[in-house]
Amino acid sequence: MNHRGEIKIAVREHYGQLAQSGCGCAKDSCCSSMGTNSFEQLGYSKEDLEKLSDEVLSVGAGCGSPIAYADLHEGETVLDLGSGGGIDVFLAAQKVGPRGRAIGVDMTEEMVERARASAKKMDMTNVEFLLGEIEALPIADASVDVVISNCVINLVPEKARAFSETFRVLKPGGRLIVSDIVTRGRVADVMKSDLSAWASCLAGAIEDREYLKIISEAGFEQVEIIAHSAMPEVAGFYSATVQAHKI
Ligand SMILES: C[S@@+](CC[C@H](N)C(=O)[O-])C[C@H]1O[C@@H](n2cnc3c(N)ncnc32)[C@H](O)[C@@H]1O
Repeated sequence: MNHRGEIKIAVREHYGQLAQSGCGCAKDSCCSSMGTNSFEQLGYSKEDLEKLSDEVLSVGAGCGSPIAYADLHEGETVLDLGSGGGIDVFLAAQKVGPRGRAIGVDMTEEMVERARASAKKMDMTNVEFLLGEIEALPIADASVDVVISNCVINLVPEKARAFSETFRVLKPGGRLIVSDIVTRGRVADVMKSDLSAWASCLAGAIEDREYLKIISEAGFEQVEIIAHSAMPEVAGFYSATVQAHKI
């Protein structure tokens, strides 16, 4: 098996375990399962957090809050790439209302099952969780108004494919808001071959300017970092929220 295949297996195993334990992974860089305070530090509002059960929050593993910048409107269709336990999908669904839809795609079966169970418990009918890979999205062309993602693309070895798939599914006029771990400077080769460092959102992180370039090359315009924070507290790494448009 090649390195890309090994990375996929390591990432699936890691998030499969998180979905089943639901007890968070506070050691990880891309894991916010440390209580409501840390979610607020990531940019979630108190009002939004109050709408979510502990069951959903306990598997939250983001590094930012794309939802806080997405400016969602009633009736919009939102797609969350790497939706995990569904935290951003549930918030998006509440913002777009019954005429809108929020769809999550995740490649880890246990996460999708957990998110579907939470949706059922909350009786939410405008959400959908699909098992699939971001590099080959199970979503029709030009069918989505807004794509969000929270701490996921760093885990994807083929980032250019992920962003060209994102471009394909967005409607013209649609927007992308993605929070992710990026770096200032190159990640050391020794870390790049460490599968556990991939799963904890460090090894697959790339330089901020390269990240923006890949998004532009996928066809997006007005690509810019609109927010950033020091998380994770590892020298050279930070969390950025990037916005881009499909004109
Ligand atoms: C760090 S967690 C973030 C989950 C969620 N966005 C959140 O904020 O809680 C990363 C998620 O991305 C999923 N993932 C990683 N690579 C993926 C890929 N290539 N396609 C689909 N999902 C992927 C993992 O299964 C995991 O659930």
